[in-house]
Amino acid sequence: MKANKNYQNLQDSYLFATIGQKVKAYSEANSDKKIIRMGIGDVTLPLAPAVVAAMQKAVAEMGEPETFRGYGDYYGCDFLRTAISDYYKKKDAKISHEEVFVSDGAKCDVSNILDIFATGSVALVPDPVYPVYVDTNIMAGNKIIYAPGNEENNFLPMPDEGVKCDIIYICSPNNPTGAVYNKEQLQKWVNYAIAQDAIILYDSAYEAFITDDLPTTIFQIEGAEKCAIEIGSLSKTAGFTGTRCGYAIIPSTLERDGMNLHKMWCRRQATKYNALPYIIQRGAEAAFLPEGLAQNKKNIEYYMQNAKLLSATLDELGIWYSGGKNAPYVWLKCPDGLKSWDFFDMLIEKANVVGTPGAGFGSQGEGFFRLSAFGSKENTTEAMERVKKFLK
Ligand code: MLT
Repeated sequence: MKANKNYQNLQDSYLFATIGQKVKAYSEANSDKKIIRMGIGDVTLPLAPAVVAAMQKAVAEMGEPETFRGYGDYYGCDFLRTAISDYYKKKDAKISHEEVFVSDGAKCDVSNILDIFATGSVALVPDPVYPVYVDTNIMAGNKIIYAPGNEENNFLPMPDEGVKCDIIYICSPNNPTGAVYNKEQLQKWVNYAIAQDAIILYDSAYEAFITDDLPTTIFQIEGAEKCAIEIGSLSKTAGFTGTRCGYAIIPSTLERDGMNLHKMWCRRQATKYNALPYIIQRGAEAAFLPEGLAQNKKNIEYYMQNAKLLSATLDELGIWYSGGKNAPYVWLKCPDGLKSWDFFDMLIEKANVVGTPGAGFGSQGEGFFRLSAFGSKENTTEAMERVKKFLK
């Protein structure tokens, strides 16, 4: 056989796998220490009661001959696709349920969507950003160019008319920086994409954390239906990191290079995907109905209280940061000009707190560090006490 040599161009290990290995090694060597994990953005609150009840009901249905279901619809059950399109309608984004494709998560969608783009496409990726965008384009043999984020542009890079590309990645609220684009800024990206004949892959995994008057979907921006695909997730908004459910929204009229992208995705999913389990889809539907939405809003508020605590600690220590508002991550500048991985080692050694080194999100992340607000209130409070003691 011939191997996909593009894999030689990847870093040895996926960022969060590397961190996991390091933390495992440290905790094995220091079993007496209580390590507080604020690295990977994994939720800690249980599923909302309305979601659990819906899943239990669906389990019971699967155990009865009259209500048992076998293979599901490749694109998702109509009830869930409708619940998602109704959620978007409330945001003034006109999405029909046929434009929603249910999946087992945004990470998979953001990777799999490259199937409908030609190999060798040029991807414009913000730096720093969720490492999956870069890794999947390397695997696919695409060319990657970067839109650098930094303190000067508040980690919100804007389009450069001179730069030509096929795919534009936007993550807002951004992972890892917590920076959020406003309407005018997103309008510039949409105009740029249309002028380039490019497609925006808009990752809205953290949209539910927005409380200010900022766009929560690209489809609130004029012209987005002509150039954007949105990928959403229930992982952070409804505690589905382990349960799994995401979705892609592809406008039915979206075309490039003489091909309809919506139809291509239908064809791709029918061939390569066999639908998310019915039980999970019923739970996901409940997350979009009023009771589930209200319960999940409370959970999001809980995490955002943690984010406030992180911000307050950094304010007290006089450390520069972004995020923590409209986003569950706080992105801080490493003290004393330390490099990201050096600060990671120091923090785990001295405070037994785990975060994510900014350099893992791209070269522009060097010298920065991400803390996640998804822990418990107790652990977040204790972690911040330890950090204060160590850095003061
Ligand atoms: C993160 O910590 O960046 C995310 O939890 C990773 C993911 O969503 O896959």
